[in-house]
Amino acid sequence: MDTQAAAHGHHHFERATEVLKQEHRLIEKVLAAVEKLAGHPGPIPVEPWEKAIDFIRNFADKCHHLKEEGLLFPMLEEHGIPREGGPVGMMLMEHEEGRGYVRGMAAALAAAKGDAEGAKKQLAENARAYLRLLKEHIAKEDQILFEMADAHIGPQGQRRLLEQFEEHEREEMGPGVHEKYLEIANELERFNG
Ligand SMILES: [Fe+2]
Ligand SMILES: [Fe+2]
Repeated sequence: MDTQAAAHGHHHFERATEVLKQEHRLIEKVLAAVEKLAGHPGPIPVEPWEKAIDFIRNFADKCHHLKEEGLLFPMLEEHGIPREGGPVGMMLMEHEEGRGYVRGMAAALAAAKGDAEGAKKQLAENARAYLRLLKEHIAKEDQILFEMADAHIGPQGQRRLLEQFEEHEREEMGPGVHEKYLEIANELERFNG
């Protein structure tokens, strides 16, 4: 898989859903690292945890989930797929549930210096809940929601979404940020717990 391409814009993609699928592959790399971190024996490896939470908050949530919530889902709505209830409503609820687990992980990490054992347990519990949620969430999007999107959104709508994605990267993320998170994902992939 060509994760490097993600750093160089979305020009070579014809469908917006392909961009989102490629981002899923990058997120999965970090989920695999979180799995190792959650099972890591001994003291909490604070630095890789901080990087993983930074990635999840800024790449998985702000870059990726906000593209879905702010751009793909409204486009689906324009094509007759409602935001409330149904698969889109479920995806929105799952994004929100995920944010709760991420807050739990961040709080546990912040408390790690005081009560190390309690923090470790809280980190692992929230991480495992997040992993379970996000792996299934990604599978549902890849296999159901994006198929639905491709069936409803024609080439013109897909191109418009691609432009909006570029704009989101530029305005919300800023220059170099995508590259930074690619690097963090690759670095975390090398973590051996
Ligand atoms: Fe999503
Ligand atoms: Fe997604």
